[in-house]
This record gives sequence, C-alpha cells and structure tokens, in this order.
Amino acid sequence: MSRVLVTHRLPAGASDALDRDWTVWEGEGAMPREALMAEVPHLDGLLCMLVDRVDAELIEAGPNLKVISQMAVGVDNVDLDAATAAGVPVGHTPGVLTETTADTAFALLAAACRRLPEGAAILRAGEVGEWDPEFLLGGDMWNTTIGIVGLGRIGQAIARRAAGFGMRILYSGRRPRAEGPELGAEFVALDDLVSRADHVVIAAPLTADTHHLFDRELLGRLKDGATLVNIARGGLVDHDALVEVARQGRIRVGLDVTDPEPLPPDHPLLAMSNVLVIPHLGSASVRTRRAMADLSIENLRAGLKQQPLPACANPSVYAGKTQQV
Ligand code: DGY
Repeated sequence: MSRVLVTHRLPAGASDALDRDWTVWEGEGAMPREALMAEVPHLDGLLCMLVDRVDAELIEAGPNLKVISQMAVGVDNVDLDAATAAGVPVGHTPGVLTETTADTAFALLAAACRRLPEGAAILRAGEVGEWDPEFLLGGDMWNTTIGIVGLGRIGQAIARRAAGFGMRILYSGRRPRAEGPELGAEFVALDDLVSRADHVVIAAPLTADTHHLFDRELLGRLKDGATLVNIARGGLVDHDALVEVARQGRIRVGLDVTDPEPLPPDHPLLAMSNVLVIPHLGSASVRTRRAMADLSIENLRAGLKQQPLPACANPSVYAGKTQQV
C-alpha cells in the first residue's frame, strides 16, 4: 500500500479518482508547513499545490518519496534541483490549462485596456451621468501591437488570440521559437518589445533569471497608454516599482498574479483605478481545473509505480535510470 498525501481538496469529481486510503488535507486554505513536514517522512507520494513550499528541506525529509505531483504547470514553488538530486520525479500539468489561461490573459487585457471595471464601479456607485462622448475612453485592441514575454504553450495561445484581434505580434524569450513564423510573431529583444508594444503580456516562467525581470527601468519604458498584463507569476514584476510607475497614470495594468499573493486589501495597487487585480484565476474554469486534477493524479499514479510521468517537470531525473515500464 502506498502512502499518499493530497495537500488540498480537489475539484468536484476528481476526488473520486483517489484511493480511499490516501490522505487529503481537509483544512481551509494551504496545509500548514509544520503539518506537511510531519507527514512527509511517511509518504511515498505527494500531490501538492502551488501554495505549498516544496523545498530541499521538505524533500530531504521524505526518504521514501517516489513522486511529487503538482496540480499546476508552474513549479517555481518546488526545488527541482533538490528533487532531481533525490531521484524524485516532479509531475505538473502543462497543456490542459493553456487555452483557459490564454482566455484569462485576453479577458484581463480587454478589461484593463477598455476600462471595464472602472465603468462598472462608477455605475454601481450611482455616479454615471448622461452619455458623454469623452466618458472613460480607453485604448484599442484591434490594429495595435502586442508583446508577449515568453512564447511557450500559453504565450502561443495568446498569440493566436492576438491574431484574431488584428494585432501585430512581437515576442521575446531566451531564443527565437520555431512556432514564431507560423504565428506571425516577430522575435525581438525585451527592451525593444517593451518600447514598441501597446500591450505587454507576461507569460514566462518564474526562475532565478526572470525574478523581477520587470524592474523599475523596464516598467518605465512602457509606452504611454500601454497595457501590462501578468498571468505568469507575481515574482516576475518588482511590485514596488510597479506601484511607482502605475501611480503616474501612464499605463493600465491587469494582474492575475501578484507578489505577495494575495495582495493585502490595503495594498496601493488595489486603490488605483488604472490597475485591475484578480486573484490568480488564470486556469479557474470548471473543466480545466478538473483536467488539471486528473493529470496530477495520473502523474502521481505513474510515479508510485515508478513509471515515467505523463508530464514531468524534471525529466533529467530519469537520466541514467532504468525505467520500469
Ligand atoms: C499554474 O498552473 O501554474 C497556474 O498558475 C495555476 O493554474
């Protein structure tokens, strides 16, 4: 019998696919660190969430761990090097959330650019007067230039949507992607992207290299009237610098992810009418969350059987290992 801990209740229906003797943390919110640390020494498998800190200390505390399966595509909360060194494959959920997350990016872009939440708030406050030709004018989406930072799966799905809006597409990343030409996307340096794009969408993973990629200098280069959208991880943007730049009122901002997360209710960004923040809803559709849960269970089961994971975030863990298939 394998000992498994699932650190959060799973979306409706997915829990039926769990073995009865697996433990599911039923508390509200993230499982407390101490509780997780107390369980790990006994575990063969861990199904975790992006709010769990799966660091070297935790991995070392689990000598029997055969698999860590995260119900998210981003694994910046997991120390992949430590997992690889310990011979533990880490599962994640690429692919199944791509389109939903790209939808969210476009929803944020449209809402921030066209000032929809501002309009809704003013209406709700009973402060809308007669129709006025100059009331709440926003930017355009059609016939503009979008800059996508990171043309991975989600970045590509954003590019496909951008093409439908008649946008010119720029992208940046570590290197040009083979998919760029067929998406009609031009590879440019990040500085160039930021100074040319009317809308900048961040879709790159958070790593040591991309932490605070959007610092004061880069944020300051955004065009007047530009929209900045982040659907990746809050840590890619220096939030103190963002507060300063957004306060100038030159840009509009749509954030699905923040640093910290969630933002405290008195955070200055939440008081700015040109900033729209939503609470990490990128993949939050019923169908997609179920698909993420299903894939994370598949990864978990494969790992417990010491078979290759359907979606592995640290494939180098298999180097030199003979797979049982
Ligand atoms: C992920 O999967 O990394 C998203 O941020 C949550 O869906």
